[in-house]
This record gives sequence, structure tokens and C-alpha cells, in this order.
Amino acid sequence: MTSINQAAKALISGQLVAFPTETVYGLGADAENETAVARIYSVKGRPQDHPLIVHIPSREFLSYWTRSVPEYALKLAKAFWPGPMTLILQRSDAAKDFITGGQDSVGLRVPGHEVAISLLQEFATLGGKGVAAPSANRFGKVSPTTANDVREELAEHLSDSDLILDGGSSEVGIESTIIDCTGEAPRILRPGAITKAQIERVTSIQVAEDKSMIRVSGALENHYAPNAKVILDENPVSGDGFIAMATATTPEGVVRLASPSSIEEFASELYRALRDADKRNLKRVVIWQPVGDGLAIAIRDRLEKARTKG
Ligand code: TXA
Ligand code: MG
Repeated sequence: MTSINQAAKALISGQLVAFPTETVYGLGADAENETAVARIYSVKGRPQDHPLIVHIPSREFLSYWTRSVPEYALKLAKAFWPGPMTLILQRSDAAKDFITGGQDSVGLRVPGHEVAISLLQEFATLGGKGVAAPSANRFGKVSPTTANDVREELAEHLSDSDLILDGGSSEVGIESTIIDCTGEAPRILRPGAITKAQIERVTSIQVAEDKSMIRVSGALENHYAPNAKVILDENPVSGDGFIAMATATTPEGVVRLASPSSIEEFASELYRALRDADKRNLKRVVIWQPVGDGLAIAIRDRLEKARTKG
């Protein structure tokens, strides 16, 4: 078993460390080491202009990475960190172009997972300021929610000195809520387990609608996608994989991949079920979208992107 101390040392010396968070597993590198960060992009097969989230052990590290933090963002940090929320803030000089994709902002998150926090704290005692980590999957594919998923996804692209920390299954199961805090009001860029209602309650500000993301989700490019065709809200036929709430019955010959009995369970099982579809070599997976707001909005956002277009 890799110790936290070994993993922190690996990061400091420029290696990659995949680690568990409560949302999904991340593929980490020292956020100040350009060569190490470049390896994240090649291991993931990800375009260079996509910015990375910097993971920090506590909100005390905000001042290192940012120029200014609006009052409402500080309220959010106090209320929801450690937790499934990423704040986009005006960057300081510490956040280089190779982290931000050349933007004037930086994404920051304190993850709510014991292993992740221990790793980040240990990394800080060695002088590290933050760990850049995208989800530990190949670009466009399903995010991993177990250490084994990471191994299956990335083993052939990692080098022998890179590490994978095992912290069990990610509890939330879908990526963090991303909130743009560079304007006068918070704006949700990616929905997640921290909901619009929670953000409005804590900040007492109405959350802005984000039109730009609506355009992105309509793009042809697939994300969060398994090899199987993803079909939404149709009736499954024999041989199809099927994901729906427990109240839905499974027709004859259909392979039931998940029967969550709550929205939380739907989120935490979704990516595992999509991976299952590929392991079973299914051609199609039919998903009945959960209804409602809050976390259900985040699930529908991922499903819309995973859906096979055309
Ligand atoms: O739950 C999560 O957020 C996971 C875990 C590992 O923390 N991470 C994650 O990272 O989902 P990734 O790289 O797969 O997705 C991060 C998203 C990207 O779509 C990126 O464009 C956006 O965050 N992002 C990062 N920095 C940004 C910035 N400065 N401005 C706008 N978007 C940003
Ligand atoms: Mg990702």
C-alpha cells in the first residue's frame, strides 16, 4: 500500500498521483510544476487549452492562488468546503497559464475526502501549494469513481513511478459544482451536488443563468461517454443495458445496470453502471432521466452530454 507521505513526495518530485475525492477520482500533479502538469494532458489525451482545477487543503490557501475573493465567494467557501464545489476566482501570479489555459481566472477546490485532504496537507508540509487534478479518465470518457476504474482507464498511459491511491468508491459520484465567482453574482458553470438553492441561501444573491454552457452542451462533441450508445428516455429492448430508478421494471432480456432508489444513489452509481455496460460489451444503454431539481439537474446535465448524438 502506498502511504500518504510517499504520495506527497511523488507529487513534489514531479510524478503524477491519482487520488480519491468524494466526487470522482482525480489525476494529480504539483500545480506549480509545468512539466508534471504537461504530463496530465498527455496521459488524459486532453486539449491544452482546457483549464485545470487546483485542489487545496483549506481555504487559507485561497490568498496564494487568487488576487481577490468577493464576499459571496468567501461565504460559499466557508459553507461548503471541504465539499463538492469548485470556485472560479481571479487568479494571482501563482496560477500560471499552464493551469488556467491562459485565462485570467483559476478554479479552486477543497475536496471532502479524508485521503485527499491528508494528501493535500502532507503535500503542503513539503512546501506544495496546490494539486492540479482533472478527473482521472481519458478525454471525453466516463469519470472514474474507484481506484480500479483509474487503473483500467489510465494504466497504459502512466509511468512506473506514478501512483494511484485507493480510497474506496467516490460517494457523490459526479463532478463538483463549478461556480464562476469573477462577476457580481455567482454563476453556475457546471451543476453538481451543491445546488442553486443552496448557493442562493448562503449568499442571499440570485444565481445568474449561464447561457454559454447551454451552447456547450448542445455541441456535437461527446463527454462522460461510454463506448455503448447512450439513449435517453426510450423503452429498452432485449439486449440493451438499462439504468432507471428502482420503481421502473426491467423488460424481458434487458440488462439492468442500476436501480437506484434515490437521486443521491443515481448519481453515485451512474458512472459505475456506464462502465459496466462497456465491460459487458453492450451496444446500447437506455437511461431514464431522473426528474426534479437539485442533484437531478446535475445528473441530467451529464446524461445530455453522454447521449449519443445524431
Ligand atoms: O469534482 C471535480 O471537480 C473533479 C475532482 C477530481 O475534483 N475534477 C474535475 O476536473 O471534474 P475536470 O478537469 O475533469 O473538469 C474541470 C472543469 C473543466 O471543464 C474546466 O474547463 C473547468 O473545470 N475549469 C477549470 N478552471 C476553470 C477556469 N479558470 N474557468 C472556467 N472553467 C474552469
Ligand atoms: Mg473531467
